[in-house]
Amino acid sequence: MGLSSIFPSFFFLVFLALFIIEVHVQAQNLIFNVVKYGARPDGISDNTKAFNIAWNKACSSEGGNVVLVPNGLFLVGPLFLNGPCKGPITFHIQGILRAPADASSRDQDHWISFQYVDGLSIYGGGSLDGQGSSAWSYNTCLKDPHCKPLPATMRFDFVTNSTINHITSINSKGSHIILFGCNSFTIHNIKISAPGDSPNTDGINIGNSKNILIFDSEIATGDDCISMSPGSKTINITNIKCGPGHGISVGSLGGIPNEDVVDGVLVTNCNLTGTSNGLRIKTKANPSYPTTVSNLTFQQILVYNVANPIIIDQQYCPSKDCKPGASRVGISDVRFRTITGTTSTRVAVNLLCSSAKPCEEIELRDINIAYDGLPRGPATSSCSNVYGVAYGIQNPPPCIRRSL
Ligand SMILES: *[C@@H]1O[C@H](CO)[C@@H](O)[C@H](O)[C@H]1NC(C)=O
Ligand SMILES: *[C@@H]1O[C@H](CO)[C@@H](O)[C@H](O)[C@H]1NC(C)=O
Ligand SMILES: *[C@@H]1O[C@H](CO)[C@@H](O)[C@H](O)[C@H]1NC(C)=O
Ligand SMILES: *[C@@H]1O[C@H](CO)[C@@H](O)[C@H](O)[C@H]1NC(C)=O
Repeated sequence: MGLSSIFPSFFFLVFLALFIIEVHVQAQNLIFNVVKYGARPDGISDNTKAFNIAWNKACSSEGGNVVLVPNGLFLVGPLFLNGPCKGPITFHIQGILRAPADASSRDQDHWISFQYVDGLSIYGGGSLDGQGSSAWSYNTCLKDPHCKPLPATMRFDFVTNSTINHITSINSKGSHIILFGCNSFTIHNIKISAPGDSPNTDGINIGNSKNILIFDSEIATGDDCISMSPGSKTINITNIKCGPGHGISVGSLGGIPNEDVVDGVLVTNCNLTGTSNGLRIKTKANPSYPTTVSNLTFQQILVYNVANPIIIDQQYCPSKDCKPGASRVGISDVRFRTITGTTSTRVAVNLLCSSAKPCEEIELRDINIAYDGLPRGPATSSCSNVYGVAYGIQNPPPCIRRSL
C-alpha cells in the first residue's frame, strides 16, 4: 500500500526532473537557422528580413542561442542587430554573406551593425563580402575632411565580453571592422583583405574601447591594418601579418576637443610587408587640442620593404591643406624594441614631435632596419623635439636625445 503510492510519485518526479533538464538544455542551445525564416542562399534574394527575424528571436529568448547561417551565398543587409539580449548569443556563419551593391546600401555607416550586446560570438569559417568595388569610386574622404565614410562591413557599438574568430572579411566599402565603446573584445584567426589601392578600407578601427585582444590574424588592405583612435586602452595585438596597407597606427589624435587618451598598447610579433607605414603615431597640428598618448610597446616586429617603419608624425595632415602649427598632444613612454628588416625610404626612424609638447621617455632598443632602395646607402633617422634613450643595436644611428 505504502509502496504503490510512493513509486508512481517517485517515477513522476524522475520524469519531471528529466523533463526540466531537457527544457533547460534546450533553452541554452536554441538554433535559429536563417533558412527556416525564409533566407535563400541563391545570391539574389534579399535576405535582410529573414536575418532580422532570426536575430530577434535568438536575442529575445532565454539561454545562449545561435543564429546559424549555413553554407551558401546570402545577399543581405544593411542589418541592425541590437541587444541587449536575454543571454549570450552566437552568430555562426558557415556560408558567405554578400552586401548589396546599390546606391542605397551606401547610406548607412555600416553594413552589419551590432549594438549593446554582451557575450556575442561570431565564428564559423564563413565570409563577409562587402562588395566594396561598387562603392570605392564614391569615396570623397581623400579630398573632403568632413566626408561621410562609406559603410563599415561590421561595426560594434557598446558590445562587451565578445569574440570574433575564423571569419574572413573581403572588400569592405569602408572599414572592415569598427569597435566603439567596447570592453573585453577578442578578435583572432580572422582574415581581412581588400586591394592595396582601395580607399579607407581599414582593417580594424578601435575607439573608446578597452581590453581588446587581437591575435593570429592576416590583414591586407588599402588603409591602416589596425588603427587606435582616442579612448583606446589596454590593447594587446599579437602575431598579425599586415600588408599591403598603411601599417599599425595610433591616431590621428588631437583634431577634436576633449578627446579621451590612448593608454596601454602592446604590439608583439607582427610582420609588416610592403606597407606605407610600419608603426605610426599621428597627431594633428592645427587646430590641435590637448590629449595624451602613453604606455605603448611595439616589440619583435619584422618590416619588409616598409616606407616609414617607425614614425611619430605630429604634423599629420591627410588633406594636404592644413595650416602649420604645434600639436598639443603629449606623447610619452613609448617603446620600440627589436624592430628589424628593410625600409623602402631612406628615413627608417622618423620621430617628428611637437615643439609645444616634446615627446618624452621614448625608448629605442635593438633597431636594425636596412635601406633597400636606390641609390644604395645607409638608412637614417630624423628627430625633432624628442627625448628618450637608445639601447643595443642601432641601425640607423639614433638621433634621440637623453632628457635632462
Ligand atoms: C562581462 O563579463 C564580466 C566578467 O565575467 C562580468 O562581470 C560583466 O558583468 C559582463 N558584462 C558586461 C556588460 O560587462
Ligand atoms: C597578449 O596576448 C597574447 C596572445 O593572446 C598573450 O599570449 C599575452 O599574454 C598577452 N599579453 C598581455 C600583457 O596581456
Ligand atoms: C613573420 O615572419 C617570420 C619569418 O618569415 C615567420 O617565422 C613568422 O611566422 C611570421 N609571423 C607572422 C605573424 O606572420
Ligand atoms: C601599460 O600597458 C599595459 C597593457 O598594454 C599594462 O599591462 C600595464 O600595466 C601598463 N603600465 C602602466 C605603468 O600603466
